[in-house]
Amino acid sequence: MDLLAAYRPSAISYFAFARHAMVEALRQSGIGNGDRVALPGFICRDVLASIHVLGALPVFYEVDESLRATTLNDLPQVRAIIAVDYFGFPQDLAPFREYCSRTSAKLIEDNAHGLFSRDDRGQLLGSRGDFGILSLRKTFHVATGAALLARESAGIDMPCVERSEGAHALRFTLSRFERRTGIPTLAGMRAAIRLARRLSGRAEIDPNSSDDETMLPRFIAIGCRSLATLNDQDPATEIARRRTLFDKVVSDLREVPNVRLLHDRLDSQTVPYGVPFRIEPEQQETLRALERRHHVVVMQWPALPSALAASAPVHYRNVWLVNFL
Ligand SMILES: Cc1ncc(COP(=O)(O)O)c(C=O)c1O
Repeated sequence: MDLLAAYRPSAISYFAFARHAMVEALRQSGIGNGDRVALPGFICRDVLASIHVLGALPVFYEVDESLRATTLNDLPQVRAIIAVDYFGFPQDLAPFREYCSRTSAKLIEDNAHGLFSRDDRGQLLGSRGDFGILSLRKTFHVATGAALLARESAGIDMPCVERSEGAHALRFTLSRFERRTGIPTLAGMRAAIRLARRLSGRAEIDPNSSDDETMLPRFIAIGCRSLATLNDQDPATEIARRRTLFDKVVSDLREVPNVRLLHDRLDSQTVPYGVPFRIEPEQQETLRALERRHHVVVMQWPALPSALAASAPVHYRNVWLVNFL
């Protein structure tokens, strides 16, 4: 089966990571040394590497508390602008389209989070700009998996690469087992890894490093095993799982004092990455119970770009996510 069949007739090119798909989107947008690329300041710092490896310069625009872009009118001329569908919820593209028609910039819709998600007109997120980005590995437990969607240009033909994906294959199997039986095998593996790291004096979770802003992951092509696993998945089952889980987690989060949900309901065709919410750090213990009950991971998002980390407004720094991977 073809996991991305619904995204045709866009040209589809597979990559190992969304960051590689982004590099190709920028290249095809004509971005090179010294060109400027606009993106939101509320972004995972890794994404900057796709801009930096081309010798291009990031220019940040702001988003408000609902994560809508607010300062596009203040932007200088750029050749490409990135709009982000945070957590699988559609970004309003009207101001982006207005900016692009005024400046001839290319619009790249970063839908790394929202595989299969659609807006209220039924349009698949990622297929609404000149280029779209999907990070399949954020939806399914595979070692590699991302795609570039292109509306006008042809896809690039890069064959998958045979490589060992042992740890991810194990994770995939454990997550299936855990979802079917409720026995926390994957959660157990995560806890064991965190403990081993703590005992060896390391951080429980790899801290982001500033290299992430300049260096891309080594593998560019998707692994053949990842691709085969992805093409074995049933979109309808995954869509239903994510939407059902959203309602359950939202109902639990409503009981936690001082949690502010970014979205408390789903539109009919939204497929969420998870449940994003705002919370103060001292309440994190409550979140561990939620992880155990729903077999999910709760994480803070994003690791902000280092240029903004110190000066970012509070509403960039208190977002957490119940991640459904
Ligand atoms: C919005 C967004 N776009 C792109 C990426 C990059 O995805 P990948 O890790 O597959 O390169 C991320 C990663 O965190 C992200 O959050």
